[in-house]
Amino acid sequence: MDLALQGKTAIVTGGASNIGRRISLTLGREGANVVIVDLDPNQGNKVVQEIVGAGGKAVCIETDVTSLPAVEAMFKQSVDSFGQVHVLVNNVGWDKVMYFLETDPALWDKLININYRSNLNTFKTVLPHMIENGYGRIVSIASEAGRIGEFRESVYSGLKAGVIALSKSIAREVGRHNITVNTVCPGLTMPEDDSEVSAVSMWAKGRGEVIDFFPTEVEMAQAAKRFPLRRVGRPQDIANAVAFLSSDAASFITGQALSVSGGYTMIGS
Ligand SMILES: NC(=O)c1ccc[n+]([C@@H]2O[C@H](COP(=O)([O-])OP(=O)(O)OC[C@H]3O[C@@H](n4cnc5c(N)ncnc54)[C@H](O)[C@@H]3O)[C@@H](O)[C@H]2O)c1
Repeated sequence: MDLALQGKTAIVTGGASNIGRRISLTLGREGANVVIVDLDPNQGNKVVQEIVGAGGKAVCIETDVTSLPAVEAMFKQSVDSFGQVHVLVNNVGWDKVMYFLETDPALWDKLININYRSNLNTFKTVLPHMIENGYGRIVSIASEAGRIGEFRESVYSGLKAGVIALSKSIAREVGRHNITVNTVCPGLTMPEDDSEVSAVSMWAKGRGEVIDFFPTEVEMAQAAKRFPLRRVGRPQDIANAVAFLSSDAASFITGQALSVSGGYTMIGS
């Protein structure tokens, strides 16, 4: 199947680490110009070097996607670098695994800003450009947590459900402009090794966020048993789905939430 991404331009938020890193590498391998938008320029520039080293084109733009002015400035720089933007991947997300009653308003605000407001900022900034060009492919990374709710991830689960509904609603509004908007819902998706994550990644060791819940091989094997395909996800699993939904091979698919989680959830009739 020809994804026809050659020469197209894709913005990947959180493109420096784990899932976003692999999405950036995959789109780059398919011939897209990749704009890696991340808080961690050191890790982002390593991904740029990998893409450029393989003959592709990429830049990293250090940006806090929770700020609308910062996203607007990043977008202007992207257009200055590569011209028309064809693909937007809203990949930034963050969670801290804890019981709801242990959470507080400061944590709620952080979760809301990173997981939801970031999407509002990019949609608001990029959609006018895509409408003007009569072309756009948008993929937002939600989560299985947003489809079924997840133990000790209540606030995050609610926000990821919001990302799915936001994407569906916008898909209905912009379909007439040849813009598709879909979500991909990963289950547990672990980096292959520590060099693949950014300094502020949920998977960075010692930050007490997600990785500390699966520290040993035995615990990993236990976690894998929750998935019908009996393994945890790897970033390439998610990147393959994103590349498809970013392409014209998926031009008649919009407003969908696709689980990529080894069968962890099976939603629908
Ligand atoms: N890994 C999983 O198990 C899993 C499961 C379900 C859903 N997801 C979702 O997939 C996406 C990627 O997850 P991941 O595991 O690769 O996460 P990660 O923490 O490894 O990577 C997130 C990236 O976003 C960047 N970032 C964080 N805040 C930012 C901000 N304000 N502005 C710009 N960049 C920022 C980080 O530097 C990092 O490069 C997230 O939306 C996450 O919620 C992940």
